[in-house]
Amino acid sequence: MSETKEKMHVDPYEKTYIYISIVILIVFATAVTIAGFALGIQVPSPSQRVDPNTVASEGPFSDPGLRELAPDKYELYIRAEASPWRFYPDEVTVPVGSTVIFYVTSADVQHGFNLQNTNINFMVLPGQVSTLTYTFEEAGEYPFICTEYCGVGHQNMYGVITVE
Ligand code: CUA
Repeated sequence: MSETKEKMHVDPYEKTYIYISIVILIVFATAVTIAGFALGIQVPSPSQRVDPNTVASEGPFSDPGLRELAPDKYELYIRAEASPWRFYPDEVTVPVGSTVIFYVTSADVQHGFNLQNTNINFMVLPGQVSTLTYTFEEAGEYPFICTEYCGVGHQNMYGVITVE
């Protein structure tokens, strides 16, 4: 009878790896929690769907650019295109201290959008709108580039946000 109650044998090495795995999981869960709640790191998510065939001719992306919502609060619509390769618009100026909500979409193929020295970095997919928010506390030039290879003119896809 007592034989059936005997503990399962786990090899000492295996036991070590089980403990290491548990510690790693706790470290990762803590890192994600700190990143999300304390550091404000956001996961880009598709905020809405658009039709890539008509996105350049109707809706907010047909007239992309900066829109003022309130003092120091803006939304910025950017359309990425591969014929020719560029962002519309590719030069934007905002006052220092501004909070900008980025909405970026593609009219054709997959692009990327990385605003250097910030946490704004996402894929730009046809049919979906990528959005993130950033507050520009420091004046200066913030270059942005396409981070997904999108064709022979990929290297021409860049722009700059000037904060003054
Ligand atoms: Cu667009 Cu690379």
